[in-house]
Amino acid sequence: ANRIAFDKTILRGVKEKVQRGLLPQWAFTDEDIYRAEVANIFSKTWNFLGHESEIEKPGDYVTRWIVHDPVLLLRDENGQIQAYLNSCTHRGTKLCTADFGQKKTFTCPYHGWTFNLAGDLIGIVAGNRVYGEEMDRTQWSLRKIPKVSSYCGMIFGSLDEHAEPLEDFLGDMKWYFDIMLGRSDAGMEVRGVPQKWIINTNWKISADNFGGDPYHTAMSHRSTVELGISPKDPMYASYGHQVVLDNGHGINMCTAAKDRADVPPYQGLPPEMWPMFKRNLSAEQLDVFEKTMIMVGNCFPNLSFVSPMHGTGGPDEPLTSFVNFRVWRPVGPTKIEVTSWFMVDKEAPESFKQASYLSYIGSFGPAGTLEQDDAEIWTRVAETTHGTMAQDKDVHYNNALNYLMGLDRVEPDLTWPGPGTAYPTCYLDAISRAFYEHWVDSLLQDADVPTGVL
Ligand code: FES
Ligand code: FE
Repeated sequence: ANRIAFDKTILRGVKEKVQRGLLPQWAFTDEDIYRAEVANIFSKTWNFLGHESEIEKPGDYVTRWIVHDPVLLLRDENGQIQAYLNSCTHRGTKLCTADFGQKKTFTCPYHGWTFNLAGDLIGIVAGNRVYGEEMDRTQWSLRKIPKVSSYCGMIFGSLDEHAEPLEDFLGDMKWYFDIMLGRSDAGMEVRGVPQKWIINTNWKISADNFGGDPYHTAMSHRSTVELGISPKDPMYASYGHQVVLDNGHGINMCTAAKDRADVPPYQGLPPEMWPMFKRNLSAEQLDVFEKTMIMVGNCFPNLSFVSPMHGTGGPDEPLTSFVNFRVWRPVGPTKIEVTSWFMVDKEAPESFKQASYLSYIGSFGPAGTLEQDDAEIWTRVAETTHGTMAQDKDVHYNNALNYLMGLDRVEPDLTWPGPGTAYPTCYLDAISRAFYEHWVDSLLQDADVPTGVL
């Protein structure tokens, strides 16, 4: 896919605003912006597809999407991970229609062509009679997703064969992924099938919320504090560090309490697991992990995560941590399909795994309390963005939204032991500003000109 050229004058104006902490409201839902995002961002970058534990054995498969490209992700006979375009090479229908399963071959529901785990076309209904021996079947293998790579069990795919290596793309986010996903000897497992639901909003609204908006918790999620299923202090999401990372990524390492003495070590994970953390993390990672209660952030463009502590039993019940990753898959300018993975350390005791799953379901599962709070608000942001006034692109008209928090007011904490630029508060718009700056820079990248055309 070639990049598409977009009206650069308008985009340069957006960039100049974003650097001053302002975002034109129309940019959330504009249709030209959406098309440019699909071509210049999602078709170029690394997109999260799934976790290795979802496809452990040869023949295990899941079906996913990279925005509008259907993906069949599987483990082949050699134990290698493969990702194919989930579209039959005969007439294009979706080859595999299930969400997940175990198969040695995939037979197309349209005319019955059959492919093996290596993507080879191995069966054609009435084959020799209708095509003869002369049709070269090797020309009709499944099309591969150009690049597939993993980090800490997290499998990503890119539609651009020239995409930079995954580890370069993740950059300093790897240091924080190690804490969330690489702390245990055997890594993480996805429990249950990832849940999916639709929200009528734009993908940037949710990515920006998880990435850079701990500020909203004091209002949006206030009722969960009162119910005793979130940390006790209504300002809980303000304490700690907001860390701006490269490539538009960002993470908030919240302590959730003013006093470090009130922070349970290692998010309340069972003490028998702690020696394992010491084995797998550096001294700096261990120190940060011990003092952190909530990790929440966004891996550009649309892979968000939250590892908080919540409860289901009310004020007298303890809070339990969990790890939740989610993709905000755009299916249009104002619609996203959320896929949400619950993950837990493979070696955690079963009792912890169950408590952790309940904590997730009650808070950030599809019917979770905090999830409902957020989805409702994000829907209304998209709703208010359709109007004539919000869509006004006149640079002199002030329709910009406010991303000014902490701009030129909060200095980085140079004692922060991890990578990135860390600020000593999570009530800050620094990640959001960096997210939108990276976003607009990606849109502004020059269109690829196919060689030989000019
Ligand atoms: Fe798949 Fe015809 S479209 S066999
Ligand atoms: Fe929220």
